[in-house]
Amino acid sequence: MIKNFSKVKSVKGELNLTGDKSISHRAIIFSAMASGKSSIANLSQGHDVISTLVLMHNLGAGVLTKNRSVVINGVGYKGFEAPSSELFCGNSGTTARLVSGLLAVQKFSSELVGDESLSKRPMKRVIEPLKKMGAKFITNESYTLPFNITPAKKIMNITYEMPVASAQVKSAILIAGLHLEDETEVIENERTRNHTELMLGLQVKTENEKIVSSSSLKYYPTANEYFVPGDISTSAFHIVLTLLTPDSELKINSVSLNPTRTGFIEVLRLMGADIKYEDIKYSSNEPYGNVIVKSSVLKNIIISSEIIPNIIDEIPILTIAGIFAEGDFEIRNAKELRVKESDRIKSLCYNLNLLGLEVEEFDDGFIVSGRIRKSFLTFESFKDHRIAMAFAILSMLSENGGEVNDFECVNISNPKFEEQINSIVQ
Ligand code: S3P
Repeated sequence: MIKNFSKVKSVKGELNLTGDKSISHRAIIFSAMASGKSSIANLSQGHDVISTLVLMHNLGAGVLTKNRSVVINGVGYKGFEAPSSELFCGNSGTTARLVSGLLAVQKFSSELVGDESLSKRPMKRVIEPLKKMGAKFITNESYTLPFNITPAKKIMNITYEMPVASAQVKSAILIAGLHLEDETEVIENERTRNHTELMLGLQVKTENEKIVSSSSLKYYPTANEYFVPGDISTSAFHIVLTLLTPDSELKINSVSLNPTRTGFIEVLRLMGADIKYEDIKYSSNEPYGNVIVKSSVLKNIIISSEIIPNIIDEIPILTIAGIFAEGDFEIRNAKELRVKESDRIKSLCYNLNLLGLEVEEFDDGFIVSGRIRKSFLTFESFKDHRIAMAFAILSMLSENGGEVNDFECVNISNPKFEEQINSIVQ
């Protein structure tokens, strides 16, 4: 479906966003693992999270909706049932990788499958450490989905130093470790999002500038009442639209403010953005609060390599901020972008080239400079939700608007994108 967007005159009002995608996946998995009923308020309505919900149901967890909350009847320790067919992860890397950690320790066989995009994404990064724990995988040569997981003879705790910065891999190992008496340790050289650690209350230490997180049976989840704060990665699109539209002000209520997720706000503030937080609270150890954004003049900065894992999902929309800001916009040390829902370096450079900008592509990033020279373009989403939303925002900032191809992919994280935009723009 091709979607047309016109230039926005101003942005005003308040937004309540549905729950954060990363926290939603974990709330579902931990509720399914726990014994008895858990409730989850403000769960993400994105298709990725529905993939996790259906998958947990297919493993024996009860799922029902009650008063706008999702109630999950968890199976308890060792209570999951063998699935009657393959387990479909849709487009969701988080589902495939986190659930691999859970299935690796079960006494039954399972098969994980995904859509076309997910079937190309790297899974060796999660299979390798789980195999070190004793898990048994049957994979193709490229270690991509589909693959089978068969019962292990024995699962052992490990200490694993992460070769790539990935919260999904870290979480898979920690989830497998929840089934063992002895501690499983994951060592990170770069800090990635820490929802698994916070929501389970795991022990996390810093040793010689490395972050060491450990899990064991004593942290196995119990039934809980979760509130999922609004999705900060979703809010990034509304924030950039507000910053770059004159005479605009937007308040986004109860959004996740976990410091491992707010890197893009730090970057935007350094670029000159007027963004404030108020009324910070906590739920399941996760901080959240209101974000107030006002129109600002932005100037590009050097984005340091340490912050890249923290802004990885927001690079598409930060790029849009960057091309409207003074100076050149440069992203380096971000090779991981090549293995997201699309090759995001390629997807971004393709659309930036359409705009008549000067674009230099590198293996690990790109530089973009010059001024937009073309008007009313048809951008390609590459069926990647964050690329689609980024170029929808660019169209809303462009004199003659623009359009985005295969726009329905926004349903992956935010089926309400258009409704939210329509409620705040003039
Ligand atoms: C996620 C971790 C990140 C992120 C993804 C969600 C998570 O991926 O890009 O959207 O919920 O753990 P990696 O862990 O592969 O970097």
